[in-house]
Amino acid sequence: MEQFNLHPLISGRWSPRVFTSEVIDKEKISSLFEAARWAPSARNSQPWRFIYASKNDGERWVRLLDILTPSNKVWAQHASHLVLACVAKVDLSSNSIRKSALYDLGLAVANFTFQANSLGIYIRNMGGFESSKAILNFSIPSEIEPVVVLALGYPDETISSNPDFDVPIKTRRERAATNKFVFNGSWKDLVW
Ligand SMILES: Cc1cc2nc3c(=O)[nH]c(=O)nc-3n(C[C@H](O)[C@H](O)[C@H](O)COP(=O)(O)O)c2cc1C
Repeated sequence: MEQFNLHPLISGRWSPRVFTSEVIDKEKISSLFEAARWAPSARNSQPWRFIYASKNDGERWVRLLDILTPSNKVWAQHASHLVLACVAKVDLSSNSIRKSALYDLGLAVANFTFQANSLGIYIRNMGGFESSKAILNFSIPSEIEPVVVLALGYPDETISSNPDFDVPIKTRRERAATNKFVFNGSWKDLVW
Protein backbone atom coordinates (compact mmCIF):
# COMPACT_ATOMS: atom_id res chain seq x y z
CA MET A 1 0.00 0.00 0.00
CA GLU A 2 1.05 3.59 -0.61
CA GLN A 3 2.61 5.69 2.14
CA PHE A 4 0.48 8.69 3.05
CA ASN A 5 1.36 11.90 4.79
CA LEU A 6 -0.57 11.65 8.01
CA HIS A 7 -1.93 14.58 9.93
CA PRO A 8 0.71 15.53 12.55
CA LEU A 9 -1.80 14.95 15.36
CA ILE A 10 -1.94 11.30 14.31
CA SER A 11 1.70 10.71 13.42
CA GLY A 12 2.88 12.67 16.48
CA ARG A 13 0.72 10.89 19.09
CA TRP A 14 2.60 8.64 21.49
CA SER A 15 2.22 7.33 25.02
CA PRO A 16 4.77 8.75 27.45
CA ARG A 17 5.64 7.26 30.82
CA VAL A 18 7.70 10.23 31.94
CA PHE A 19 6.12 13.61 32.63
CA THR A 20 7.36 17.01 33.75
CA SER A 21 6.14 18.31 37.12
CA GLU A 22 3.87 20.86 35.40
CA VAL A 23 0.19 20.57 36.34
CA ILE A 24 -2.28 21.02 33.47
CA ASP A 25 -4.59 24.06 33.81
CA LYS A 26 -8.21 23.45 34.73
CA GLU A 27 -9.37 25.11 31.51
CA LYS A 28 -7.30 22.80 29.38
CA ILE A 29 -8.60 19.76 31.26
CA SER A 30 -12.16 21.01 30.70
CA SER A 31 -11.48 21.31 26.97
CA LEU A 32 -10.47 17.63 26.84
CA PHE A 33 -13.80 16.56 28.34
CA GLU A 34 -15.55 18.94 25.97
CA ALA A 35 -13.83 17.17 23.06
CA ALA A 36 -14.95 13.80 24.44
CA ARG A 37 -18.48 15.16 24.69
CA TRP A 38 -18.70 15.66 20.93
CA ALA A 39 -17.79 12.08 19.98
CA PRO A 40 -20.33 10.02 18.06
CA SER A 41 -22.14 7.20 19.88
CA ALA A 42 -24.79 4.60 19.12
CA ARG A 43 -28.21 6.30 19.26
CA ASN A 44 -26.38 9.31 20.69
CA SER A 45 -26.38 7.39 23.98
CA GLN A 46 -23.10 9.00 25.18
CA PRO A 47 -22.32 6.12 27.56
CA TRP A 48 -18.88 7.43 28.60
CA ARG A 49 -18.29 8.42 32.24
CA PHE A 50 -15.05 9.86 33.64
CA ILE A 51 -13.65 10.27 37.14
CA TYR A 52 -10.54 12.43 37.33
CA ALA A 53 -8.09 13.86 39.80
CA SER A 54 -5.09 16.13 39.61
CA LYS A 55 -2.00 15.37 41.65
CA ASN A 56 -2.88 18.46 43.74
CA ASP A 57 -6.21 16.94 44.72
CA GLY A 58 -4.91 15.21 47.85
CA GLU A 59 -7.11 12.36 48.96
CA ARG A 60 -8.96 12.07 45.61
CA TRP A 61 -5.63 11.65 43.81
CA VAL A 62 -4.51 8.99 46.29
CA ARG A 63 -7.76 7.07 45.77
CA LEU A 64 -7.24 7.07 42.00
CA LEU A 65 -3.55 6.23 42.14
CA ASP A 66 -4.38 3.41 44.54
CA ILE A 67 -6.29 1.44 41.87
CA LEU A 68 -3.24 1.11 39.56
CA THR A 69 -1.06 -1.98 39.40
CA PRO A 70 2.36 -1.47 41.06
CA SER A 71 4.16 -1.35 37.70
CA ASN A 72 1.92 1.47 36.50
CA LYS A 73 1.88 3.29 39.83
CA VAL A 74 5.64 3.73 39.77
CA TRP A 75 5.57 6.05 36.76
CA ALA A 76 1.94 7.28 36.74
CA GLN A 77 2.39 8.92 40.17
CA HIS A 78 4.34 11.65 38.31
CA ALA A 79 1.50 12.42 35.86
CA SER A 80 -0.41 15.68 36.19
CA HIS A 81 -3.84 14.06 36.10
CA LEU A 82 -5.35 10.58 36.16
CA VAL A 83 -8.69 9.82 34.55
CA LEU A 84 -10.70 6.65 35.11
CA ALA A 85 -12.79 6.07 31.99
CA CYS A 86 -15.94 4.00 32.47
CA VAL A 87 -18.97 2.99 30.42
CA ALA A 88 -22.63 2.94 31.32
CA LYS A 89 -23.11 -0.51 29.80
CA VAL A 90 -26.80 -0.81 30.76
CA ASP A 91 -29.47 1.54 29.48
CA LEU A 92 -31.53 1.84 32.64
CA SER A 93 -34.57 3.29 30.82
CA SER A 94 -35.06 0.04 28.83
CA ASN A 95 -32.94 -2.25 31.01
CA SER A 96 -31.00 -3.34 27.92
CA ILE A 97 -27.27 -3.82 27.35
CA ARG A 98 -25.61 -1.16 25.19
CA LYS A 99 -23.55 -3.36 22.91
CA SER A 100 -21.61 -0.45 21.41
CA ALA A 101 -20.77 1.17 24.73
CA LEU A 102 -17.08 0.22 24.69
CA TYR A 103 -16.78 1.38 21.09
CA ASP A 104 -18.42 4.68 21.97
CA LEU A 105 -16.05 5.18 24.90
CA GLY A 106 -13.08 4.52 22.59
CA LEU A 107 -14.31 7.21 20.21
CA ALA A 108 -14.68 9.66 23.09
CA VAL A 109 -11.19 8.88 24.40
CA ALA A 110 -9.81 9.37 20.87
CA ASN A 111 -11.37 12.87 20.76
CA PHE A 112 -10.00 13.54 24.25
CA THR A 113 -6.53 12.35 23.20
CA PHE A 114 -6.24 14.42 20.05
CA GLN A 115 -7.55 17.54 21.78
CA ALA A 116 -4.90 16.92 24.46
CA ASN A 117 -2.13 16.42 21.90
CA SER A 118 -3.10 19.67 20.18
CA LEU A 119 -2.29 21.40 23.51
CA GLY A 120 1.03 19.58 24.02
CA ILE A 121 -0.53 17.21 26.58
CA TYR A 122 0.13 13.49 26.06
CA ILE A 123 -1.68 10.47 27.41
CA ARG A 124 -0.84 6.89 28.30
CA ASN A 125 -3.75 4.47 28.63
CA MET A 126 -3.58 1.85 31.37
CA GLY A 127 -5.46 -1.42 31.40
CA GLY A 128 -3.32 -2.28 34.41
CA PHE A 129 -5.61 -1.34 37.27
CA GLU A 130 -7.86 -3.16 39.72
CA SER A 131 -11.47 -2.82 38.73
CA SER A 132 -12.75 -4.03 42.10
CA LYS A 133 -10.70 -1.36 43.88
CA ALA A 134 -12.03 1.31 41.50
CA ILE A 135 -15.61 0.21 42.25
CA LEU A 136 -14.94 0.34 45.98
CA ASN A 137 -12.93 3.59 46.05
CA PHE A 138 -15.49 5.52 43.99
CA SER A 139 -18.76 3.75 44.91
CA ILE A 140 -19.31 2.85 41.25
CA PRO A 141 -22.77 1.30 40.66
CA SER A 142 -23.20 -2.11 39.00
CA GLU A 143 -24.42 -0.76 35.63
CA ILE A 144 -21.12 1.11 35.21
CA GLU A 145 -17.96 -0.67 34.08
CA PRO A 146 -14.49 0.81 34.71
CA VAL A 147 -12.51 0.32 31.48
CA VAL A 148 -9.19 2.14 31.45
CA VAL A 149 -7.17 4.71 33.39
CA LEU A 150 -5.49 7.56 31.49
CA ALA A 151 -2.31 9.25 32.73
CA LEU A 152 -2.00 12.81 31.41
CA GLY A 153 0.81 15.29 31.42
CA TYR A 154 3.52 17.13 29.54
CA PRO A 155 6.14 14.61 28.42
CA ASP A 156 9.54 15.03 30.03
CA GLU A 157 12.21 15.21 27.39
CA THR A 158 15.03 14.92 29.93
CA ILE A 159 14.83 11.36 31.12
CA SER A 160 17.80 11.70 33.44
CA SER A 161 15.75 14.06 35.62
CA ASN A 162 13.41 11.23 36.55
CA PRO A 163 15.19 8.66 38.73
CA ASP A 164 12.31 6.16 38.50
CA PHE A 165 13.06 5.53 34.86
CA ASP A 166 15.79 4.01 32.85
CA VAL A 167 13.74 3.37 29.73
CA PRO A 168 14.08 5.49 26.60
CA ILE A 169 11.55 8.34 26.56
CA LYS A 170 10.06 7.54 23.21
CA THR A 171 10.33 3.82 22.64
CA ARG A 172 10.32 2.89 18.97
CA ARG A 173 6.74 2.83 17.83
CA GLU A 174 6.00 -0.03 15.47
CA ARG A 175 2.89 -1.18 13.69
CA ALA A 176 1.85 -4.01 11.40
CA ALA A 177 1.64 -2.98 7.73
CA THR A 178 -1.86 -2.03 6.56
CA ASN A 179 -2.01 -5.05 4.23
CA LYS A 180 -2.00 -7.21 7.36
CA PHE A 181 -5.38 -5.89 8.44
CA VAL A 182 -7.08 -4.29 5.42
CA PHE A 183 -8.37 -6.29 2.51
CA ASN A 184 -10.98 -6.05 -0.18
CA GLY A 185 -11.51 -9.72 -0.99
CA SER A 186 -12.41 -12.70 1.16
CA TRP A 187 -11.08 -13.25 4.63
CA LYS A 188 -8.56 -15.77 3.25
CA ASP A 189 -6.81 -12.88 1.42
CA LEU A 190 -5.79 -11.45 4.75
CA VAL A 191 -2.10 -12.23 5.25
CA TRP A 192 -1.61 -12.11 9.01
C1 LIG B 1 -6.42 -0.29 26.40
C2 LIG B 1 -4.95 0.00 26.60
C3 LIG B 1 -4.34 -0.47 27.74
C4 LIG B 1 -2.99 -0.16 27.98
N1 LIG B 1 -2.43 -0.54 29.18
C5 LIG B 1 -1.19 -0.10 29.51
C6 LIG B 1 -0.67 -0.30 30.83
O1 LIG B 1 -1.33 -0.86 31.71
N2 LIG B 1 0.57 0.19 31.10
C7 LIG B 1 1.32 0.86 30.16
O2 LIG B 1 2.45 1.29 30.48
N3 LIG B 1 0.85 1.06 28.90
C8 LIG B 1 -0.38 0.62 28.55
N4 LIG B 1 -0.91 0.90 27.30
C9 LIG B 1 -0.11 1.68 26.33
C10 LIG B 1 0.31 0.82 25.14
O3 LIG B 1 1.32 -0.06 25.54
C11 LIG B 1 0.76 1.74 24.00
O4 LIG B 1 -0.35 2.52 23.56
C12 LIG B 1 1.28 0.90 22.82
O5 LIG B 1 2.50 0.27 23.17
C13 LIG B 1 1.52 1.75 21.57
O6 LIG B 1 2.40 2.81 21.84
P1 LIG B 1 2.00 4.31 21.42
O7 LIG B 1 0.70 4.62 22.12
O8 LIG B 1 3.13 5.18 21.92
O9 LIG B 1 1.86 4.33 19.94
C14 LIG B 1 -2.24 0.58 27.03
C15 LIG B 1 -2.88 1.02 25.85
C16 LIG B 1 -4.21 0.76 25.65
C17 LIG B 1 -4.89 1.33 24.41
